[in-house]
Amino acid sequence: MKSVLDFARFKAEGRKISIVTAYDAWSARLVARSQVDAILVGDSLAMVVHGHATTLPATVHLMALHTRAVATSIDGKFLIADLPFLSCRKGIPTAMSAVGSLVSSGAQAVKVEGVDGHEDVICHIVGSGIPVMGHLGLTPQSVNQLGGFRVQGRNDADAAHLIRQAHALQDLGCFSIVLECVPADLAARITSELQLPTIGIGAGADTNGQVLVLQDLWGVDPNPSPRFLRRYVDGARVLTDALDRYDADVKGARFPGPEECYE
Ligand code: KIV
Repeated sequence: MKSVLDFARFKAEGRKISIVTAYDAWSARLVARSQVDAILVGDSLAMVVHGHATTLPATVHLMALHTRAVATSIDGKFLIADLPFLSCRKGIPTAMSAVGSLVSSGAQAVKVEGVDGHEDVICHIVGSGIPVMGHLGLTPQSVNQLGGFRVQGRNDADAAHLIRQAHALQDLGCFSIVLECVPADLAARITSELQLPTIGIGAGADTNGQVLVLQDLWGVDPNPSPRFLRRYVDGARVLTDALDRYDADVKGARFPGPEECYE
């Protein structure tokens, strides 16, 4: 995937879209060597990299720093960066300054959580020639209002609200929408009603694509994971095992060996 136009094309062709997060140059380099379509510098980095309990501590400065690192190593893959907590809620000038930081750090598009009350901001970003990806359902920046990281849109009123929000984002010119933690049949309905592609995370199999946090799919977090997550490798075990073998080699005087020494 080379440009934002590919998102619409892939939906039209019925080809699924794969996206993963990356927060640094070395992991971006590995994603760049894979067939994965696009990379998201998600504000989940506040949790995954910086150890916070929520994404709320992510700042524009932090997002720009990580976006710049990732952008050095993506080899032409499409790069989206998250607008962090409150950056769309302080009016257009503040939002545009945040967008400017992310785009000048290498992002080709920005992701915005929610829509109600910041339609003008989304419209202005799109009107400024910067592609916007929406994000509905479980929007982690609203975790305190949602009462935790929980599935959204389970009752009729909430589902109807989500459907309205999805249409609003399409009308505002978003090129794609992430649907996070919503029932699969609701995600399927939104996907079939919209022209733009939906990207699911915990939203079932009928969205036009999927996004996962890289460290989650690599299984590097030994803690229990949510139901929607598939670990493609037991990274925690593989990497801890490598550390223990290194430790044993050092303590057993087997590392370094003669071939690992300079003459
Ligand atoms: O911040 C993030 O990583 C995200 C994805 C999980 C969609 O928003």
